[in-house]
Amino acid sequence: MNRVYLKTYGCQMNERDSEAVAAMLRKRGYSIVGHENEADVVLLNTCAVRDQAEQKAIGKTGYLAKNKRNNPDFVIGILGCMAQNRGTELLDRLPDLDLLVGTQKFHRVPDHLDHIMASLKGRGPHPQTLVDLDEEDGSQNTIRAHNPEERRISAFVSIMQGCNMSCTFCIVPKTRGRERCRSIRDIVEEVEELAASGTREVTLLGQIVNSYGRREIPFRNGKSPFVQLIEAVNEVKGIERIRFTSPHPRGFKQDLIEAYRDLPKLCEHVHLPLQSGSNKILKAMNRPYSRERYRQIVEDLRAIVPDMYFSTDIIVGFPGETEGDFELTQEFFQEIGFEMAYIFKYSVRTGTPAAEMDDQVPKTVKEERNQVLLQILADRSLARNRALIGTTQEVLVEGPARKGEGILAGRTRGNRKVVLAGDPELAGWLVATRIEDATVSTLRGILVEKAFGKSPRCTSIMVSQDAL
Ligand code: 5AD
Repeated sequence: MNRVYLKTYGCQMNERDSEAVAAMLRKRGYSIVGHENEADVVLLNTCAVRDQAEQKAIGKTGYLAKNKRNNPDFVIGILGCMAQNRGTELLDRLPDLDLLVGTQKFHRVPDHLDHIMASLKGRGPHPQTLVDLDEEDGSQNTIRAHNPEERRISAFVSIMQGCNMSCTFCIVPKTRGRERCRSIRDIVEEVEELAASGTREVTLLGQIVNSYGRREIPFRNGKSPFVQLIEAVNEVKGIERIRFTSPHPRGFKQDLIEAYRDLPKLCEHVHLPLQSGSNKILKAMNRPYSRERYRQIVEDLRAIVPDMYFSTDIIVGFPGETEGDFELTQEFFQEIGFEMAYIFKYSVRTGTPAAEMDDQVPKTVKEERNQVLLQILADRSLARNRALIGTTQEVLVEGPARKGEGILAGRTRGNRKVVLAGDPELAGWLVATRIEDATVSTLRGILVEKAFGKSPRCTSIMVSQDAL
């Protein structure tokens, strides 16, 4: 009765929320299983950013509802952004839902499941759908549970919730609510606990991380609250690498640029959403920066860290995007040279200003533009990866690769994936790896030294020669 399968759609924030829900459920005595066929309860943690993501979750729920025919006690829940976005209207489409939980109520999931389980055990009538979509003060502080049995070399840490921007295409301000931040102390404590459990890399998560603490925490020595936070995390012993996602170009100021010079753990990769290379479209998107300003940030970062890696988000086919606008995006995309990008075809989100705009772009045009950018991206990514052949890179070993016996997977500081042969005991080590080969997405390397600089963990472990 207590086996839960939790499926996550969408972004890293959703993944992190799901991890926290899983940890809370385990603590409450539920077991988390790896497949829906083994489960008594399936919870879908959903995404609302594009229609496709919503349709997938709706289709999945409809499919799962069939399980109820054989097992009336089977429980289905929808959590997160789509629950918040669509609300009880979802019940018209999905009458078999048992649970609908919004983005500020993840921490209530164990209580709600207990309640549902109790009434099923009591053999009462199948309870009505339990709906919990309210806002809750302080809910940003509730996403901190991790599963202590599951050691994560690289972990996400949620530093804030919500978004106060009003990009005209985006549903997130509706699904995630107003911006709320956790305290620096609280976040550092979580990072310390992670470090103690073996985590070596943290990725700080927020909708717009560089607006972290803007209203609550004063600037100090010209440094924004976000930079103060990274400085504090940089002090945590055992943590070797820091990343964050996503910043907004608007608040990407000198203090953050200099953090890359001053904080050795801050990795030389930044995910900086561009959305469009046309100033006209940026304006229509209500993104308050220009391509010139974006270029300036990239140049300033490269001046400090010449081999900086960049990734981005782009939307193609925003309403009113002409061939000329797209050419500007294409040319700018090529000029900056992103190593990684999420390229989205614009998706109409009911309730957002862009949904009402004229000149919606036909699907086929969006598809073509998507392909053009994907090709530029593949060329650039391959070239940048190939340039590393013959060099020695610091790789954080995360664990066994998905494919291949004795093969490990890790990442460079620039966030490029590396596979190499070695002993699984190397998980958590920063190893020196000589790059031998490269594809668009992956580097293949050979371990040359089991410690790159100082070893991050368990210095007492001796790695056998065959692993090297
Ligand atoms: N259509 C397509 N992509 C979108 N994104 C947000 N809203 C939409 C939409 N309506 C993309 C943006 C954002 C990323 C998380 O999702 O590029 O940065």
